[in-house]
Amino acid sequence: MGLTMPDDPPVVLERTVAVADEAATRQLAAALAAVLPRPCLVTLEGDLGAGKTTFVKGVAAAVGIDPDTVISPTFGLIHEHSLTPGGPRLVHADMYRLAGLEELVETGWDDACSGEPWVFVEWPERIAAALPAERIELLITIDAPERRTFTFRGKGAAQAAAVQGIGGESPAPGPE
Ligand SMILES: Nc1ncnc2c1ncn2[C@@H]1O[C@H](COP(=O)(O)OP(=O)(O)O)[C@@H](O)[C@H]1O
Ligand SMILES: [Mg+2]
Repeated sequence: MGLTMPDDPPVVLERTVAVADEAATRQLAAALAAVLPRPCLVTLEGDLGAGKTTFVKGVAAAVGIDPDTVISPTFGLIHEHSLTPGGPRLVHADMYRLAGLEELVETGWDDACSGEPWVFVEWPERIAAALPAERIELLITIDAPERRTFTFRGKGAAQAAAVQGIGGESPAPGPE
């Protein structure tokens, strides 16, 4: 346990879900999409190949956005998706190549976050100081070639309620 930041929101709820294959990851993403409030920011952490982008594809597909358009950005670090022009937005950011927080303004981050979007951020540690306190943190661990464990942490009342809505189990206590 680290120090509690004074601005930490009071409500925190954590759940873990184990999935057996990529199809199950996409189902889990659809389950989140079904309960995710707007606006909401979701951070995704996990090693390369854990399934961060695959999970965002699953969220996109669940709301009718072509998942093939959700790709790791090559030009620009932020991609915005919507089913209809001007419709509800899904923002996908991958901050892996962001050199420093001072570069964030050039990526269009502020505009992307305005309104009521869903914002999914890969490599959020690159922009930790710019993240809202109320968010959903998702940690993906690779257990086997196709097996993953997803740990969702909802911070804030609406975010915690969404995590509860996914189901799953309370995480096992860590090693003594
Ligand atoms: N259960 C699973 N969930 C997500 N991806 C999986 C799973 N099993 C295998 N994979 C594979 O792992 C890779 C995940 O890639 P990607 O989503 O781009 O990861 P990241 O964005 O975390 O680097 C894909 O090649 C995918 O097919
Ligand atoms: Mg990725």
